[in-house]
Amino acid sequence: MSTVALARFEKTLAGLQRKSRFRSVAVGSGTDFASNDYLGLANSPRLKAAITEAIKRGVPVGAGGSRLLRGNHIEHEMLEAEAAQFFGAEKVLYFANGYAANAALFSTLPQREDLIVYDALIHASAHEGILASKATTSAVPHNEVDAFEEAIRNWRERGGKGVPWIGVESLYSMDGDRAPLPELADLAQRHDGFLVIDEAHATGVFGKDGRGLGADLDVRHNILTLHTCGKALGASGALLGAPTIVADYLVNRARNFIYSTAPSPLTAAAVREALRILADEPERRLHLARLTAFAGDQLQSRLAKMPSGSQILPIAIGDNGRAVSIARQMQAEGFDIRAIRPPTVPEGTARLRISINLNVDEQKIAAMFERLSMALQEHAP
Ligand SMILES: Cc1ncc(COP(=O)(O)O)c(C=O)c1O
Repeated sequence: MSTVALARFEKTLAGLQRKSRFRSVAVGSGTDFASNDYLGLANSPRLKAAITEAIKRGVPVGAGGSRLLRGNHIEHEMLEAEAAQFFGAEKVLYFANGYAANAALFSTLPQREDLIVYDALIHASAHEGILASKATTSAVPHNEVDAFEEAIRNWRERGGKGVPWIGVESLYSMDGDRAPLPELADLAQRHDGFLVIDEAHATGVFGKDGRGLGADLDVRHNILTLHTCGKALGASGALLGAPTIVADYLVNRARNFIYSTAPSPLTAAAVREALRILADEPERRLHLARLTAFAGDQLQSRLAKMPSGSQILPIAIGDNGRAVSIARQMQAEGFDIRAIRPPTVPEGTARLRISINLNVDEQKIAAMFERLSMALQEHAP
């Protein structure tokens, strides 16, 4: 390898360092205010026992192939059937992860003559699919229902003949606020379109039995719902709920479903157990709601900031370097808090993303906010 070839990468990395945007991976340590393991299931004895029991039943570690070839396992099928029942979907498809599912659905379903209108804050994995789509695409300001409608009207006026696809997250991953789902569902209905709801951060936490924020919407035939399994469900993978014909279309056309080894059947067994835990152990959700309310009070009293109303509490910092310095100081003092910087969030909006989850308790939350209020002053702009 010539040094010139590597020098290009070096130059980019040096630029990232200068802007305090260089990233590296670090094993989590200290009290968990960073993970998406909202219900504390990642380490739960029930999930571990489900995997042990599946091994005893002879469930293999690896699928051994694509779902369309030898990789389809009865564990995948049982999970999909149980998830369809649980989430009230006509059919559910199990993907290896949420990233692949979002990329697959946005790149495969909207056709050339269609429109994808999506919230400007939608996750990178949806962007991946949207970028690959042949449809017309339009980003609209965060949570502005009127802007969604205007984009659809403008597209129709310019001769748009196909179907509009509205893409949102039910609970935004970096802001912790909610999408106006009833209004968006109504919009999709009036314009004969589809509403795609990414429930990644709401699954397990909100809705009856943790079915997500979209669970109570009346009409379902034009709604696609993505429930990722690596966050509150404590495992990995993603369950896409959709009308049967849409799911069948994906099985025939979605390249990253077709040309990829199926997820481990053991993980599918763990996700089945996680769904049962959602139904059997409502106290987890209630406990999380109590901790979230407590954290919201702390945020207001100690930092004079308004809570988001969910378990995701962003603390706006703005400057990348300052966000990193505060996060580092908190980590050094035993609180695992991470700085979120562009391009994950818009330029100039670096923040600390605090996750409230069942791996912490009120005492730890209070201690963290006490220390954070001091760190914010010590690193005042
Ligand atoms: C809103 C949202 N959608 C999708 C994903 C991707 O899910 P997964 O982690 O299962 O790939 C994430 C994960 O970061 C997310 O936050």
